[in-house]
Amino acid sequence: MEIMKKAFYLETFGCQMNVVDSERIVALLEQIGYSQVDAADKADLLLLNTCSIRDKAERKVYGHLGRFKPLKDQRPELIIGVGGCVAQQEGERMLDTVPYLDLVFGTHNVHRLPELVTQAEKHRSRGCATEFLGREERLGNFPQRSQLDSVTRFVTVMQGCDNFCSYCIVPYVRGREISRPSSEILAEIEALVAQGVREVTLLGQNVNSYGLKEDEISFAQLLKKMNDVEGLERIRFMTSHPKDMTDELIDCFGNLDKLCKQIHLPLQSGSDRVLKLMNRGYTAADYLQKVERLKAVCPEIRLSTDIIVGFPGETEADFLDTLEMVKTVKYADAFTFLFSSRTGTAASKLKDDQSSVQKQERFERLCALQNQNSEAVWQADQGKVLPVLVEGESKQGDGQIFGRTTWNRIVNFEGDKDLIGKTVSVKIAKVFRNSNLGELV
Ligand code: 5AD
Ligand code: SF4
Repeated sequence: MEIMKKAFYLETFGCQMNVVDSERIVALLEQIGYSQVDAADKADLLLLNTCSIRDKAERKVYGHLGRFKPLKDQRPELIIGVGGCVAQQEGERMLDTVPYLDLVFGTHNVHRLPELVTQAEKHRSRGCATEFLGREERLGNFPQRSQLDSVTRFVTVMQGCDNFCSYCIVPYVRGREISRPSSEILAEIEALVAQGVREVTLLGQNVNSYGLKEDEISFAQLLKKMNDVEGLERIRFMTSHPKDMTDELIDCFGNLDKLCKQIHLPLQSGSDRVLKLMNRGYTAADYLQKVERLKAVCPEIRLSTDIIVGFPGETEADFLDTLEMVKTVKYADAFTFLFSSRTGTAASKLKDDQSSVQKQERFERLCALQNQNSEAVWQADQGKVLPVLVEGESKQGDGQIFGRTTWNRIVNFEGDKDLIGKTVSVKIAKVFRNSNLGELV
């Protein structure tokens, strides 16, 4: 007799941490007989892996749950679950406010998902697991992923955050900072390379403070060891905190041939007054000094950043300081956000007297400046021949393949699928807003 596989549908919101957690969710559910489907109406189990970094991300979760309700009305045996940062924050409250929700699991409880699902299947009982784990249990529960064949992978090196930037919910929903042993990280990278992975992005909320709480090698030393892994071609990492960017780490961009010439270095604000209110631990001058050192050791390096507009009490002068920094650094990309008050954070208690019209107006000025900068940086690549690590078939489905430059920019071009996993020379024929069109040389 053929056993019908049960199907699950999973949607992931937010950052790369959630993407990695979702890979673990997939692996765990496969172990208990589920297979993934790409439409909610074909599934027996619906899951959302949620993000609470800003208001918009959070509202999306409730919007999606609302869309699941008619499915549950039709099929009461359907199981609906929520994980991730919103689940961590809301816990049992979510079960109270969403009566058709069956299970809630927090950021430290992904490993308990099979048990929660099995309980919901057998007893129709609703479950919630959101307790923060202790050190040892956490170290034993770093995300391990299903075997996917891909050229690029994320490897988590640390989780959680101790920085408590005043606007940020992450320390509350992800818990205290913890780093994995470097031996384990390097073993995972070697195993991935043996499977065909060529590029690894090290992942953590603040990778620059890797190992500082443990008796571990520094993050720069970890990169050096990684650079020696045979068969690995490219190294990236995110996210960096400017206050923890050591000279040793900056020098890696000059010394390590596998380290891509790209760094995401969140600025948040160019005003010292606002940076202080944000509890960022650096001044605009400190930040600029690090940028200058990066550019000195690696003239080709390109930077991207995150900026928050409309932090409580931000004045026009503060905002002009931010614009000035953006002009000076000339980021290749910037992710710009309107401040969103997060319950429980220090900034949620600050007086906020700006009108939303004013915030929006500043936001648009910043975007206009950054768009000019991005355009200038990326247009300069027109006609250049660049090494591209081929990752797969182009998403456009037009028979092309795609890869990335050292600057993490996507290039689509005509080429054979056999090139996947190889580094090839591609001439940049056309520069678009988010990708390039190239010709194989
Ligand atoms: N409001 C707006 N933006 C925020 N970010 C984090 N918290 C908030 C908030 N409360 C932004 C920061 C961070 C990025 C991931 O999200 O710029 O670097
Ligand atoms: Fe949030 Fe600051 Fe930690 Fe980044 S460093 S996760 S912004 S608290």
